[in-house]
Amino acid sequence: MEVRKAVLPVAGWGTRFLPATKAMPKEMFPIIDKPVIQFIVEELLEAGIENVIFVTGRHKRPIEHHFDINTDLERHLEEAGKEKILKNIREISHMVNPIYVRQKQQLGLGHAVLTSEPAVGFEPFIVSLGDIILEKGEKVLRDMMDIYNRFGKSVIALFEVPQEDVSKYGIAKVKEIEDGVYIVEDLIEKPSPEESPTNLAIVGRYIFTPKIFEKLRETKPGKGGEIQLTDAMKLLLEEEVIYAYRIDGKVYDTGNPVDYLKTVIEFALSREDIGEELFSFLQELISKQIQPIDRP
Ligand code: UTP
Repeated sequence: MEVRKAVLPVAGWGTRFLPATKAMPKEMFPIIDKPVIQFIVEELLEAGIENVIFVTGRHKRPIEHHFDINTDLERHLEEAGKEKILKNIREISHMVNPIYVRQKQQLGLGHAVLTSEPAVGFEPFIVSLGDIILEKGEKVLRDMMDIYNRFGKSVIALFEVPQEDVSKYGIAKVKEIEDGVYIVEDLIEKPSPEESPTNLAIVGRYIFTPKIFEKLRETKPGKGGEIQLTDAMKLLLEEEVIYAYRIDGKVYDTGNPVDYLKTVIEFALSREDIGEELFSFLQELISKQIQPIDRP
């Protein structure tokens, strides 16, 4: 059976961004003028996936509103003659066929995925994390779906991180079967650089067979009392082969303040309308901040 559905877990607390996330989901934070979650939905649509299941929680209503029709706003833009933005606003409200599933308690990413089971049913599905934007994301999803279609087993995305950073990620021990395609042998959560078998980190795009739900039900709460998706994947490994795909493009993590800011700056610098002005501003700012005495 082909992959038709995607699950977007967006119910987390976003504690690294408090107090900003007290009433506003981090998935709605703007990359200039487009919320992070819209990038992820657009990536799915470009890859041909229209059935999107959002796993939401308290304070996540803005996500529902974002993909809904806002007739008042549309009327206002129409009356104001703002055709271009009106077209854009209408497109957003017709983007996806959303299903919203409520994760009543934030018991971890694994638990969020398990919450989506009634909406997914017994079929393969994508999981895209709500705070990771990929360069060439459509290609990543298409390539991963190709691997799924060939082997009929789960596929996870990996990307190369500097060896000294492996302790920030879930790392995969793998055997390469084709250029950039692997069989997963083991998954290790946040290893030290010395003990890490590779520098290939799990990155927020997955295709799962429905067997993952059975494994999530068996998964005991791990670190912080949360049901970890990686723990369920380790259980799945005991029964099914898991394939992996190496991402070549850039990965933007918007879930923590410094990487979020780097993402905003990089995207802004590449924009025709504001890039040049921002570049001059940054140059000026940097030249003022670095005192001659601080220079090597
Ligand atoms: P993160 O660990 O990045 O999100 O989970 P978080 O827990 O919201 O952030 P911090 O660590 O407290 O700052 C990755 C994705 O999984 C979702 C999050 O919304 C995020 O998009 N998630 C996490 C859930 O849906 N439910 C959970 O219980 C935990």
